Amino acid sequence: MKQLQTKPQNGLRGELTVPGDKSISHRGIMFGAISEGRTILHHFLTAEDCLSTLKAFQQLGVPIRRDGQTVTIDGVGLHGLKQPTRPLEMGNSGTTTRLMMGLLAGQNFKTTLVGDASLSKRPMKRVSEPLAEMGADIETTAGHLPVTINGSQLHAVDYHLKVASAQVKSALILAALQADKTSIFVEKQPTRNHTEIMLRAFGANIECEPDDVTITVHPDPKLEGLTLNVPGDMSSAAFFMTAASLVPDSEVKLLNVGVNETRTGLMSILEQMGGKVSISNLQYGGESTADITVNSANLIPIEIGAKDIPAVIDELPLVALLAAKANGISKITGAGELRVKETDRIAVIVTEFKKLGIAIKALPDGFIIDGSKPWQVKYSHLDSHGDHRIGMVMAIAALLVDKPLTLDGADSVNISYPEFFADLATLL
Ligand code: S3P
Repeated sequence: MKQLQTKPQNGLRGELTVPGDKSISHRGIMFGAISEGRTILHHFLTAEDCLSTLKAFQQLGVPIRRDGQTVTIDGVGLHGLKQPTRPLEMGNSGTTTRLMMGLLAGQNFKTTLVGDASLSKRPMKRVSEPLAEMGADIETTAGHLPVTINGSQLHAVDYHLKVASAQVKSALILAALQADKTSIFVEKQPTRNHTEIMLRAFGANIECEPDDVTITVHPDPKLEGLTLNVPGDMSSAAFFMTAASLVPDSEVKLLNVGVNETRTGLMSILEQMGGKVSISNLQYGGESTADITVNSANLIPIEIGAKDIPAVIDELPLVALLAAKANGISKITGAGELRVKETDRIAVIVTEFKKLGIAIKALPDGFIIDGSKPWQVKYSHLDSHGDHRIGMVMAIAALLVDKPLTLDGADSVNISYPEFFADLATLL
């Protein structure tokens, strides 16, 4: 249980470098491992999720060393992984699990993946079923972990994805690298494209059509190790962008944040809500970065639907918080995927927001929130429900309240942002 910081006297002020991007850190380890030669990752995210990936690849026989936020991987090539001696522990990490399923499906050995209680409830058929169309032999436990992957020769497919999920897409791309011929994938909607960008940087032959949803993957690439600076995680910066917008008299500058446009949904939503967001020091690259300055503002309500969701999927609890302070009724729909994240984030957000007397109603695929109603804090104990992003969003909500509040399960922030409370303290 942690005592939360409540309404600060003078707003939030200062500059912050947020930890490395979680999606990019996972992929850096994975793609470095299957490349030839050395890969060095700087500003790697040393949070539990990415450490699950790191340890899993060590168990697959890949020499990996970590010195603080610098990771050195001596790649073994696409065919050099070794059968692990015991099941691989995925912890809480959906990204590790799903991408590994695609990669391991084409190896010549058998692996079992296990995970914690939350991960063991999350759907895995969304990956095993399309992989089966490529000839993969994967046994799930009624669609969940534990999952056993009997590596086999894969064949190419032309496949239309059924869910808008970068995890599923990435699993299929990793399988397609090991298939007999060229595969084509068509997404339901564009989702984060870190896999495509990074694999190309390692030397893979992957074509992305201008429609942003069609991806052609040529098999058997020669991947070569490289040195990579992991950008700051937009999904972590988002907590402070939201806090600075909502806490009066704030000005916060987040340095070196990844601004890949498949991830910047929160910035556009904030702008549409009348938020004050500006970017500077834009550095173009495979993964562009920028400094983001946010000042407090009076917000107006917003309506967002399915087409807006993938670029803000992990920030939706924060959009709900912004809406809870906007001067009218906001509606978020098309976000049914929230129900299968680390928790059912629709249910959990509604439960926790109601403790603060926020006028919020769950929809099957989103929320309706009336921000014009004053909050009426009814409870002093908030709960992360073991979900890192819920813990952090409730800590930001506490900054808008003047009653003392505590958070149960505050340790869950270690999944993606172990320094979260310390970094927040530097802005007070
Ligand atoms: C991720 C993709 C997203 C996101 C998750 C990380 C990734 O999941 O929610 O935190 O690294 O590919 P889905 O693609 O399943 O929505």
